Amino acid sequence: MKKTVLVSGGAGFIGSHVTVELIEAGYDVVVADNFSNCDRTGYEGVKKITGRDDLPLEIVDFCDMAQVKALFAKYPIDAVIHFAAYKAVGESVAKPVMYYKNNLMSFLNVLEAAQDKGGCNVLFSSSATVYGEPEAVPVTEKTPRQPATSPYGNTKTMCEDILRDTVKASGGAVKGILLRYFNPIGAHPSALIGELPRGVPNNLVPYITQTAIGKRECLSIFGNDYPTPDGTCLRDYIDIVDLAKAHVFAVTRMMDGKMKENCEVFNIGTGRPLSVLELVTAFEKVNNLKLNYRFAPRRAGDVTAIWADPTLANTEMGWKATRSIEETLKAAWAWEKHLAGK
Ligand code: WQD
Repeated sequence: MKKTVLVSGGAGFIGSHVTVELIEAGYDVVVADNFSNCDRTGYEGVKKITGRDDLPLEIVDFCDMAQVKALFAKYPIDAVIHFAAYKAVGESVAKPVMYYKNNLMSFLNVLEAAQDKGGCNVLFSSSATVYGEPEAVPVTEKTPRQPATSPYGNTKTMCEDILRDTVKASGGAVKGILLRYFNPIGAHPSALIGELPRGVPNNLVPYITQTAIGKRECLSIFGNDYPTPDGTCLRDYIDIVDLAKAHVFAVTRMMDGKMKENCEVFNIGTGRPLSVLELVTAFEKVNNLKLNYRFAPRRAGDVTAIWADPTLANTEMGWKATRSIEETLKAAWAWEKHLAGK
């Protein structure tokens, strides 16, 4: 009997890539989104990639409990992967109430529905941002979380705690896995889905590809005076398809009863630190182009260096990042060219 996975925020960048991998792994998927932060490109692309023209799509505002209840009554949901949240760090600083209201209420409603149906597997989309500026790198799952540097980051920390408490109170009827992503980048090799930021991109790679295609004048590298080998910040850039596959491993772990605790946390990263300048140089080399960039002052709130120790996910789930940065940056560029109709 096929298992059904609800993907909240399933039309977004990560949600759409996860939906592809779940379908290809044999799961039935229900995509639920309110399209507040994306258009239908992702959902349409998933249907093209998987050939599933009948892929269920539900327009749901997860802050509306009546809509969430109706969704859980309509489908035999065996697991929920919760992406539905606002995610712009800077915007969250300017609009904290909007972020806390949306990101907490949407998750609380999902958990209440999971409880009401007598239990469910819940996978929460967390972030390395919970580690703040880590005392030591690479970070393991035991590295202490730091006070968040933004309301966005704080909602991730709070949702982690809310899930843990809900799992504990449920006596295991609700099981939880927290996946802490490092920096998701790239696009599906088909170039039919990828990152589609609204307005000016906050994140590095979409800004790079938009500069390369001519949508942006010049990439500003925020700071080259950090205490790192080339002065620019170090991050763990993980290919979006590698990241998406980690969700299949995690959901399968829950469904197959392989969990060792009722709530588990995994770092989903490559374990390979890369500087901003190294990434820019790799992008130019693999795509055989010259990028227009300049060094600019540091960006407030940026962490100097963070990358994962992914050993736990590798050994416990059998998941490992396999794509090279060159492959990822090629796919990112192919996606940008697809968007430009090239
Ligand atoms: C990476 C590096 C910038 C843009 C954030 C969130 C995290 C997750 C991923 C949502 C930094 C530099 C960037 C630019 C630059 N978000 N940069 N010029 O800040 O590591 O993580 O996005 O899920 O939770 O915290 O990612 O891509 O913004 O920045 O020099 O135009 O690139 O200074 O060093 P970040 P990022």
